[in-house]
Amino acid sequence: MNKDIERILVTEEELHAISKKLGEKITRDFAGKKLLVIGVLKGSIYFLTDLSRYIDLPCHIDFIQASSYGDSTESSGVITITKDVDKDLSGFDVLLVEDILDTGNTLKYIHDMLSTRNAESISVVTLLDKPSRRKANIKADYVGVDVPNEFVVGYGLDFNQYYRNLPYIGVLKRSVYED
Ligand code: IMP
Ligand code: MG
Repeated sequence: MNKDIERILVTEEELHAISKKLGEKITRDFAGKKLLVIGVLKGSIYFLTDLSRYIDLPCHIDFIQASSYGDSTESSGVITITKDVDKDLSGFDVLLVEDILDTGNTLKYIHDMLSTRNAESISVVTLLDKPSRRKANIKADYVGVDVPNEFVVGYGLDFNQYYRNLPYIGVLKRSVYED
């Protein structure tokens, strides 16, 4: 285990099982629809890669990126879009893929912005949910697993851009981000 990790919260095996279970459910729910999967960069890339291989339907894949001012472990409500989707959403049933729903500010902003663009529907799948931290009025349609109010990294999630490539989700030692 990485020396900066206090404990593992979600193992590689559990991550794989989550993608399989959610991918199979999404396959059933979106059958016959024109599916557009949109990953929220950068945190969702590992989850999107695993999840999409269990979505047994024709689909397009696109990405969007937002940045939020705030300190290093907490987002503020001030969001800017740094990379927009390439596709016209008209006629598509959109599935937004997030790494973690924390305050919900980022996803709420993205959801509201995309809602003006004539998609058939917009759904949300998040790998991790911290429901105790929610501020914005947004709920995921599909949740991998709820996590406690601790700062987690790995499998796409970062602290100061590091730790994304850990193959598991772990709790970061407080000493790494506190003096
Ligand atoms: P929100 O706007 O507060 O919901 O948080 C949005 C983004 O902050 C998430 O998509 C993550 O990229 C990041 N974030 C929130 N909590 C954590 C965490 O525990 N570890 C790593 N990134 C996090
Ligand atoms: Mg994110």
